[in-house]
Amino acid sequence: MLEKIENIKSEINAFVVNNPDTLEQFRLKFLSRKGLLNDLFEDFKNVDKSQKGPVGKALNELKNLAQGKFDSAKEIIENSSAGENKIDDYTLPGRTYNIGTKHLITQALEDITKIFERIGFKVAGGFEIENEYYNFDALNTPDYHPSRDMQDTFYLNSEGKDKNYLLRTQTSPAQIHVMQNQQPPVRIISPGKCYRNEAISARSLSMFHQVEGLYVDKGVTFRELKGTLDYFAKEFFGKDLKTRLRPSFFPFTEPSGEMDVECYLCKGKGCRICKYTGWLEILGCGMVDPNVFVNVGYDPEIYTGYAFGMGIERTLMIRHGVPDIRMFYENDIRFLKQF
Ligand code: DAH
Repeated sequence: MLEKIENIKSEINAFVVNNPDTLEQFRLKFLSRKGLLNDLFEDFKNVDKSQKGPVGKALNELKNLAQGKFDSAKEIIENSSAGENKIDDYTLPGRTYNIGTKHLITQALEDITKIFERIGFKVAGGFEIENEYYNFDALNTPDYHPSRDMQDTFYLNSEGKDKNYLLRTQTSPAQIHVMQNQQPPVRIISPGKCYRNEAISARSLSMFHQVEGLYVDKGVTFRELKGTLDYFAKEFFGKDLKTRLRPSFFPFTEPSGEMDVECYLCKGKGCRICKYTGWLEILGCGMVDPNVFVNVGYDPEIYTGYAFGMGIERTLMIRHGVPDIRMFYENDIRFLKQF
């Protein structure tokens, strides 16, 4: 009998229980009513009285061994299948991940680019670091010219041979680079960053974006400029907002104009945002001044052209009713995720 108990003990130890099926097989083989342990307890009744002590003790140890192995295996298997159930529970609320979007300025630059590409404009690059020649002189703005005072320039070096390097105050120098490298017809837009030494306020920052436009060919007229800008305004702001063109002055265009869009807030009635005029200015424009053509080697007797430059932040403030220009760069997710 003791030998039999030893054999079954080795069988119990060798039995691999690692899933619900093998657990049930283990139970049937050793612990059920028809299992091996029950048979042994039956046999125990016939054991000689003198042997009952040691055999009974061995038998109890065997039972504890089998029951212990069963209980701990059961717990492990149930815990691991409970884990699987958790993954499979599709009724639990999901985890949310915030998906980023393109910044509003990037979106606007892409929108504007597409609008102009549809009517034949190509994108031209530009440089954020320029010198006085490209930012001012070539654009018909010599250093005695009062309009230099209109733009407070960040100079990069106030002494030495590089003293005329600066952060461009406008995207207009891109026009000069394009015309120096290409003969008419020229039809480009050039988006990018500009810098001015301005006091920071709700309406101005020292860094902002512009999109420059230039079209030069034989016989380009002011009427085409107006048509192009009207087309742009309708595509970008929608058909309902009215626009108007006002005479203005820029050194590099003659005649010059500024385009206004009906105030988004008061719809033209007059309010604090539009300083009670009903209009908000979005761009400067005009016919390219003959002096600019001379500077880049184009013959002003043969070619005419128009140019325009618009402020992006300003334009977006109008389109979305953003009250403070600083909101574009605060990176507040509550603002950014609205676009
Ligand atoms: N560069 C001008 C500015 O920053 C905007 C501008 C006006 C650009 C007229 C032009 C133009 O190309 O023709 O205020």
